Amino acid sequence: MLRTALLAASRSPRVRALVERGPTRAIVTRFVAGTTVDDVLAVVRELVADRLVTVDHLGENVTDRAGARATVGEYRVLIARLRDAGLADRAEVSVKLSALGQALERDAQAVTLEHARAVCAAAAAAGTTVTVDMEDHTTTDATLATVRELRTDHPWVGAVVQSQLRRTLADCRDLAHPGSRVRLCKGAYDEPASVAYRDPDEVRASFARCLDVLAAGGGLPMVATHDPAMIDLARSREPRELQMLYGVRPRAQQELAAEGERVRVYLPYGTDWYAYFMRRLAERPANVGFFLRSLLTRG
Ligand code: FDA
Repeated sequence: MLRTALLAASRSPRVRALVERGPTRAIVTRFVAGTTVDDVLAVVRELVADRLVTVDHLGENVTDRAGARATVGEYRVLIARLRDAGLADRAEVSVKLSALGQALERDAQAVTLEHARAVCAAAAAAGTTVTVDMEDHTTTDATLATVRELRTDHPWVGAVVQSQLRRTLADCRDLAHPGSRVRLCKGAYDEPASVAYRDPDEVRASFARCLDVLAAGGGLPMVATHDPAMIDLARSREPRELQMLYGVRPRAQQELAAEGERVRVYLPYGTDWYAYFMRRLAERPANVGFFLRSLLTRG
């Protein structure tokens, strides 16, 4: 119930205006590196001491071409700065296709592909990689089609699949082949029962089945979860990369890295933090408590 309400609020302009005005800075900065490239580079420098990073420029559901072009510009700057700072071998980028044109009313697929190719070309020139985030189920086919196109020039482009979707085992079979980088997560969106498992145990069982298929395929499963049971499962598979979100279970991230695990942190930055932040609140009821306390103690 709470998860559904928070995910609905993540799409509400009215709640957005309220939250953005609130004294939320402390809890937001738990999950977000800051608003500028300088902010995020400072955090990347700290994290790469023991972990890898994937940097996300926050933004989604851009509905005009100029905005989608601007996203490409942001990524070009970010990638150039990672290269110049000598961080491109430890930090890649993650990108949402709805920030690159997938939410446009006209020519969405063609514009998105052109923009995503530009981001991938910049990454290739800098010696880093790109992973294409997965958004809600209405975008899955278009996103996987774009990833397939991108992989013809850049086979290293990472795909993302969500174990909460009933279709995902079949998607994993398509994606499980040598060289294929696939991030497996549970899924952060509120999906209907017609397309998704709603029961947490079913989502976990699906996660395990998907991991088996990806691990058998000879690619690199990038296991994106904070769930100890799923992490244990991943640690019995080779090869693997473990991925977690910035601000979530940081001590576990460090302990896993110290044990020799390849751990990558998903690190978002930018001014458009609202929807991302609300999805993080929806994942853990205790976060809502912290957030409400920060509102009550305003000033
Ligand atoms: P679960 O939600 O069951 O959490 C397990 C435990 O982890 C909790 O009990 C709690 O201790 C801790 N935890 C989890 N989330 C927390 C939070 N927000 N705050 C504090 N503690 C928390 N989704 C998507 O739809 N598309 C995508 O592209 C991505 N990309 C992505 C990249 C990476 C690196 C990660 C780690 C996750 C994503 N996700 C995502 C989000 C993912 O789908 C999922 O919503 C979250 O990871 C939460 O699910 P868990 O597997 O962690 O399990």
